[in-house]
Parts: sequence; structure tokens; C-alpha cells
Amino acid sequence: MTFRAKHLLGIEPLAPDEIRTILDLSEQYVDLNRGALKHSDVLSGLTQINMFFENSTRTQASFELAGKRLGADVMNMSMQASSIKKGETLIDTALTLNAMHPDLLVVRHPHSGAVDLLAQKVNCAVLNAGDGRHEHPTQALLDALTIRRAKGRLHRLNIAICGDIAHSRVARSNILLLGKLENRIRLIGPPTLMPAGIAEFGVEVYDDMKQGLQDVDVVMMLRLQRERMDGGFIPSEREYYHRFGLDAEKLAYAKEDAIVMHPGPMNRGVEIDGEIADDINRSVIQEQVEMGVAVRMAAMDLLARNLRAQKAEGVWA
Ligand code: NCD
Repeated sequence: MTFRAKHLLGIEPLAPDEIRTILDLSEQYVDLNRGALKHSDVLSGLTQINMFFENSTRTQASFELAGKRLGADVMNMSMQASSIKKGETLIDTALTLNAMHPDLLVVRHPHSGAVDLLAQKVNCAVLNAGDGRHEHPTQALLDALTIRRAKGRLHRLNIAICGDIAHSRVARSNILLLGKLENRIRLIGPPTLMPAGIAEFGVEVYDDMKQGLQDVDVVMMLRLQRERMDGGFIPSEREYYHRFGLDAEKLAYAKEDAIVMHPGPMNRGVEIDGEIADDINRSVIQEQVEMGVAVRMAAMDLLARNLRAQKAEGVWA
């Protein structure tokens, strides 16, 4: 086994072999999840705490289901209602939870770097469920698994990531992962939504959908992340849809068998036409959700194995 990490904080530190190890194990969990009995006991006796400091529907549900199917005791902390509102710092909250001896902490936080900081203060495995605009590693892994299953490979593909790149941790983690596996990545969006210094990532940048989508294998759409915008980044949603929204006319420039992806939540009629999102011949959006549960099961299984081994060796306090 090539995955030896203590935490899953981002895609950046992962080697291609580690990525493949997670994806290969995820395949087994896809089969388990499709069966009649969806239970395994690999996390039996372990405690998983989900701390979401930001709203989430699918990611939180998916981590909860993943933990339960693997037999962990799963607790969801409602951070809106917790002491954070009373001014307790992130670190104090983490130390309080740490005293309850969790084994796996799943954390989403609005600030980039907050999850890394927390991981330094606790003695259990930490999984980043999205930190600010930094990373969202399990999303990139589930996207990779979806692509690999649909295309039969995960290298030398032309992949377009479209829309609000600047505010997107999904884009960042995907650029890192797909780049490590030697794919060609194109970023398409208005210049105001492109991060500074993006050329260093070895990507091609377009501000025209028809040019950018020419002959791509994968079209990944992103939500306009208004909650992270502090000014006017686009003239209007109508204008944005006209230029950057994925509709049949623009999709026709991609390869005939190109797949359409979206991490959700989707804004129909803003970044994507509803009919394309629902077209089962093109859209793999529902598969992404399915793969999300399997990938999170695999990630927690691997981290728990490492945790047990490292605790036996006395590596952890
Ligand atoms: C994404 C996120 O929270 O970063 N959603 C998700 O995890 N499925 C993308 C988004 O919020 O637009």
C-alpha cells in the first residue's frame, strides 16, 4: 500500500501512486454501495466527528454516510450553534473535541489554511472537507474517479474547467490532481474570475467558451461563488450565462462523447443549462455524487489503517 499519510489535507502533497491507491480502493466501495448489504466494519470502534463551519449538503451527507457504512460512531457538530458563536477560537473548539478522543475529524472551514492549522493541534486523522478557496481534496478525488470510469483512463485527457476559478477550491484541487496525472487542463472564464499567477500551474487559459471547449473530453462547470466575492466580478448573471453558461451550442464544440460535470450546488440558468445538467447521455453529475460516498469511504479506511499502525508504533501522542 502506498498511502501512508496521517491526514488528507490536500491534493498538493499526494504522489500519483497515492492517488491511484485511493481510487482503486474506492472502486471496491462503489461495489459495496451498490449491493444489498452496505456494511463493513473497517471503522468499527472508531469515532468520526464532522465539523462543518460552512454550509454543506452533499459533502456532509456523504461523509456521514461513508462513516456509518464503515461502522464508525459518527457525530455531526452543528458549528453554527456551537461556542464559535460565543467567540471561542477554532483551536479551542478543536482541543475540546480532541479531549473526547475522536479518531477521524472531518472539517470544513471558510478560511484557507484553517484545516491544516487544526491538524497540528489534534492527535487524530484530519480530513479537509474544503477550506476557503484553498483545497477540497475529496471532491477532486471523486471527480477523478468519475472521469476514470467514464473515459477508461485518467491521463492524456483534455479537460476544461469553466467559470469562477478564482474563488474555487474545487478548481484548485482538480488542477493539482489532474496535472499530476499528465492531463491537459484548460481554464475558461472571464479574466476577473481567473486567479493571479495561474499560468505557473501549467494550464491554458481562455476567456471564450467556444475556443476553450474545442475537442475537450471533459467539461467541468463551477458555481459562481458569490459568498466569496467582495465586489462586482461579472456585469450580470444574464450576461454571464450568455458568455460562459454551458448550453447545447457551446457544448457542441467539445468532443462528441465529452462528459459534463458539476460539483454542486448548481445554479441552473447561470453557469449551466438545466437540460444539459439532466441529460443522462452527457452529464455525470449524479455519478459524481455516488462516487463521493465511495471515495470518502476509501479515504477514511486508508487513514484509519495508518492511524492504527502509527499508534501501535507509538508515533502518535
Ligand atoms: C463545492 C464546495 O463547497 O467547495 N461544493 C461541494 O463541495 N460539492 C463547490 C461549491 O460550493 O460551489
